[in-house]
Amino acid sequence: MPALLIVAISIAHYTASASAHIPHDIFRRLYYLPIILAAFTYGLRGGVAAALATTLCYLPHALGHISHDPAAPVDKGLELLLYNVVGVVTGLLVERERREQREHEQTAATLRASLEERRALEGELRRRERLATVGELTAALAHEIRNPLGSLKGAAQILADPTLPAAERERLLAILGEESGRLDRVLTDFLTLARDRKVRRAPVDLAACVRDTVALLTPEAEAKGVAVQVEGVERGVEISGDGDLLRQLVWNLARNGVEAAQGGGEVCLRVAGDGDPIRLIVEDTGPGIAAADVGRLFDPFFTTRDGGTGLGLAICDRIARDHGATLTAENRPEGGARFVVELPVDRAV
Ligand SMILES: Nc1ncnc2c1ncn2[C@@H]1O[C@H](COP(=O)(O)OP(=O)(O)OP(=O)(O)O)[C@@H](O)[C@H]1O
Ligand SMILES: [Mg+2]
Repeated sequence: MPALLIVAISIAHYTASASAHIPHDIFRRLYYLPIILAAFTYGLRGGVAAALATTLCYLPHALGHISHDPAAPVDKGLELLLYNVVGVVTGLLVERERREQREHEQTAATLRASLEERRALEGELRRRERLATVGELTAALAHEIRNPLGSLKGAAQILADPTLPAAERERLLAILGEESGRLDRVLTDFLTLARDRKVRRAPVDLAACVRDTVALLTPEAEAKGVAVQVEGVERGVEISGDGDLLRQLVWNLARNGVEAAQGGGEVCLRVAGDGDPIRLIVEDTGPGIAAADVGRLFDPFFTTRDGGTGLGLAICDRIARDHGATLTAENRPEGGARFVVELPVDRAV
């Protein structure tokens, strides 16, 4: 293409009238087009070759050997020099740009490769972590199931004796009922924790959740000698969330408070709903959290209570996180524990 252009320009140039300056000036400068085109297409070599070809084509015309370019000799000489300068400089610039482009592409490819490698490693790590967690949870669950199963089996064996006194039979039947209830509770709680349940968000009145929970819990609390108080629940505090899950969260925290404060203590549930985040605070006057337990409170199956499954706080943590909230535990300076759920307003509304 550049060669054809050079030939075409030369023919037009050679056949232009020797007395007409303007067509010669135009054709002389048109040569830059094929030179630049060649440099862009074939790099330095193309630019130099096109410049040399142009010089060779134009030289006989400039010197007046074939027809005659009427321009001043100095203009023609400069033009001939410039053809070659433009050919070389454009060629060099084009090659430099191509080199840089190649380097950029290489860098991008290297970055892409290392990013993919990193992603693969992260995936592998996550898979291993998940497997380790599943392993731990399964072991803990098996342990939790084995205990009540052992009691059930023992009770059933003794019950098979037809000479068993009626009172003993009744006691064993009560154990059967209790232990199967416990099994059912462990499995229900475990499923709540393990299931990938989607939070069904809807407007929920957090204050009403607290009032309902307290109403349900009061008889059990009174039986244990615990007074339950509420604050900040006189008017509605609307948030966006899953009502069932949020009620379970409040219930678990409140029940833990009652367990901890039993025998003359107090539990207080407070909603601080004016600012951002909205806070649900559950405090008790119990013994507080032992320093050694602080890091394990939210671990599934961590419990220090007889008959506890250790799933209550793990479920609370999961529910809080599913709502974009945080759940923290601390000891109050005046004694007892404090659990705080912080629901960010931007996500809660
Ligand atoms: N208010 C509290 N004060 C002191 N310790 C607490 C309090 N709440 C929880 N804990 C500690 O955290 C542990 C785990 O609590 P979590 O609610 O997960 O399980 P649990 O209450 O033992 O059993 P359950 O599954 O029946 O709730 C408790 O056994 C207790 O040691
Ligand atoms: Mg609990």
